[in-house]
Amino acid sequence: MSKRRWIFIIMAALLLLLTACSSGGQVMDGEDMVRSYTQISQEEAKQMMEQDGTQIIVDVRTQEEYDSGHIPGAICIPNESIGTEQPEELPDLDQIILIYCRSGNRSKQAAQKLFDMGYTNIYEFGGINDWTGEVVTEMPDMDTSQESEPENPQGTVPAPADTLVGEFDFSAEKVLLNSGWEMPIIGTGTWTLSDEEAENSTYYALKAGMRLIDTARYYQNETGVGKGLARAIDEGIVTREEVFITSKIYGGDHDRAVKVIDEALSDLNVDYIDLMLIHQPGSDDAGVYKAMEEAVERGKIHSIGISNYYTKEQVEEVLSFAEITPAVIQNENHIFYQNAELRDYVKQYGIVMESWYPFGGRGHTQESFENDVILDIAKDHGKTAAQIILRWHLQDGYIAIPGSSNPDHIAENYDIFDFELSEDEMDRIRGIDEQRRYEHW
Ligand SMILES: NC(=O)c1ccc[n+]([C@@H]2O[C@H](COP(=O)([O-])OP(=O)(O)OC[C@H]3O[C@@H](n4cnc5c(N)ncnc54)[C@H](OP(=O)(O)O)[C@@H]3O)[C@@H](O)[C@H]2O)c1
Repeated sequence: MSKRRWIFIIMAALLLLLTACSSGGQVMDGEDMVRSYTQISQEEAKQMMEQDGTQIIVDVRTQEEYDSGHIPGAICIPNESIGTEQPEELPDLDQIILIYCRSGNRSKQAAQKLFDMGYTNIYEFGGINDWTGEVVTEMPDMDTSQESEPENPQGTVPAPADTLVGEFDFSAEKVLLNSGWEMPIIGTGTWTLSDEEAENSTYYALKAGMRLIDTARYYQNETGVGKGLARAIDEGIVTREEVFITSKIYGGDHDRAVKVIDEALSDLNVDYIDLMLIHQPGSDDAGVYKAMEEAVERGKIHSIGISNYYTKEQVEEVLSFAEITPAVIQNENHIFYQNAELRDYVKQYGIVMESWYPFGGRGHTQESFENDVILDIAKDHGKTAAQIILRWHLQDGYIAIPGSSNPDHIAENYDIFDFELSEDEMDRIRGIDEQRRYEHW
């Protein structure tokens, strides 16, 4: 018998004892919960199911999230209803419940409510890959009859169930985020652009084939981006649903953020923003983040993330209050500053990295474009230095948003899907890294 199984049996016996000792066995106090609620890895959850025959999974999300893809055989308890009503499918009180949830805080709340309902045998797992990852295909003897076609609540995205979170799909030019929405992996940035320039850049980016536009409240050009988008829609180049708009909230607190989100929607002239980021760490990140989460619940924002968080400690701090795990971290990243450590660390949460300053930023681009390694590789592929650098970002797992007000540059920046860098070339570019940032805000 496996070690895991022995531990499991001992724990189950202890839990039964605890249940018997509790008054009436129905409502557990806080101390009991701590002793009974166990967080396990996705791997351990699978082992329990394979070796111990544990089959009950309660998938705690909003109904909309659940409908866009779930573990076959799982019971869905919408977050809102848990504790207020007991779904008929829930197992007997003495059965083991595995809670599958994409947010640590949310699953803890769900566990507490289930305890309040009388359940005592609760294990929680979550983390990478979410409902679309290997767990779906590898779980044994699972009933797949509940699998449904992904819903499409506001047009775009929900990806096919076999797409992996965080994996770049070069043929679709997209990545599936942990929020269930797809994001284009190449786009155009608009920092320093006036409203008029941002309108043109947005329009020409969409005309060239790009589908991702990056702006921010701070750039004061969301109106221009909105106009560029409207122009492209009017001309039949794109539909709103095909375009992915990112904006950012700069500083403030919860109440201000609630207001700012509405202002961004109004300036961009859209019904929803695809991705909203905290622009940089501030004094009330938890409050701002909460406001973004509330906007997700209301359909005003699809995915949320953070920007300018460079260390795992900073990210963990955000995760400590996040109900919804950030989908994206947008940071300074270029050939001279490659934060591969953070990229690899946040993979476990299904978080995708995005590079700002992919060329080093205005005033520094020649340093990147004239780098010998880049020029050498560019010559071999018959591509420009800019194209080699962007292809490196994408192949190394970074969404890239080069900024430009020049339609020729924008078209050039999109023309990077007809060649591939070899592993040797990728290594040579990785070797340029000096851990040198241009900015320290
Ligand atoms: N989250 C944050 O804190 C943060 C901070 C900075 C930036 N960002 C975002 O990241 C985006 C990218 O950063 P960035 O725009 O500052 O810097 P960047 O993309 O590294 O560099 C932009 C510069 O590259 C030039 N360029 C673009 N394509 C080119 C090409 N194919 N050939 C030659 N030159 C080319 C642009 O000039 P032309 O206009 O002449 O093409 C511009 O001077 C921003 O626009 C913004 O959306 C976010």
